[in-house]
Amino acid sequence: MHSIDSQAANHYHSIWQAATRINWKIEDLIGGDKRLNFTQPFLPEALASVSAISCLTEAEKLKLNQIRGNSYLYFFGLCEEFILPYVIGHISQIQRSDLYATQAFLHFAEEESKHMLLFRQFAENFEQGFGSRCDCAGPARTICDRILAHHRLAVALTTLHIEWMTQRHYLESVRDTQGLDAQFCCLLRYHWIEEAQHAKLDALMVEDIAQSLSPQEIQTAISDYFAIVNLLDQVFHEQVQLDLESLSRAIDRQFSEAERAEIQTTQIQSYRWTFLWSGMTHRNVEGTFRAICPSSQTQLLEKAKAFG
Ligand SMILES: [Fe+2]
Ligand SMILES: [Fe+2]
Repeated sequence: MHSIDSQAANHYHSIWQAATRINWKIEDLIGGDKRLNFTQPFLPEALASVSAISCLTEAEKLKLNQIRGNSYLYFFGLCEEFILPYVIGHISQIQRSDLYATQAFLHFAEEESKHMLLFRQFAENFEQGFGSRCDCAGPARTICDRILAHHRLAVALTTLHIEWMTQRHYLESVRDTQGLDAQFCCLLRYHWIEEAQHAKLDALMVEDIAQSLSPQEIQTAISDYFAIVNLLDQVFHEQVQLDLESLSRAIDRQFSEAERAEIQTTQIQSYRWTFLWSGMTHRNVEGTFRAICPSSQTQLLEKAKAFG
């Protein structure tokens, strides 16, 4: 990677300083008497989309909301699992003299590893308290390896998408929703706080990588980003089938074909909106695409239409 200028160094410095002022520990959020409360929903309706499913009772909708909460944890854990080695690889490319950039990305990597532990502990608490098995698409390692096999700029764009999506989920859907489980809300809030610095670093990382590439190679990387989006879409389709089985086990009920179709249609739309559309249409994601390749903003929005 080329050496960064003094303006970028200041930017890295201020992001790193902001990040070091935030100091929460996993035990502040989960463990001991801090446990999930299974009488309450975990996700806001905007992210789980259960209320309009006519074939489910209110109690069954609550179960599906919690199943979605569990898969939300799983997919974030999965994202951290490919972001962590990717960021460590990026650190090794930074010039030795660029110490603020090095510090900022080291802190980023440390936080992602903490988040992985955090999501894991919530998942364990979920498993102990939910009452029946919930499967998630995977194995996570295989999905991560498939993502990491794409162009490095495409992986950086995917990371940028995920981090801004996290900001959007919290600010637009979680923060003002009443009646959600307090521990789950804490998780989303504290994750959101640290991800705010990551999102800024991702934009710098994308711009840095793009500077060393030809326009043609940037276009190839953007096509690769869309390939990752398609891969994730396939994974979400698989997850909807697993969620249906988990729900059926949890409420001890077999669904008719029509009922399955209703739940599948609503939930596929919901996964796509939550994880794909809300990242692709974030104005800062759009802005970064425009900055590295002006024509790609239109491609991005066209692609997003299928998921909104
Ligand atoms: Fe994270
Ligand atoms: Fe992050």
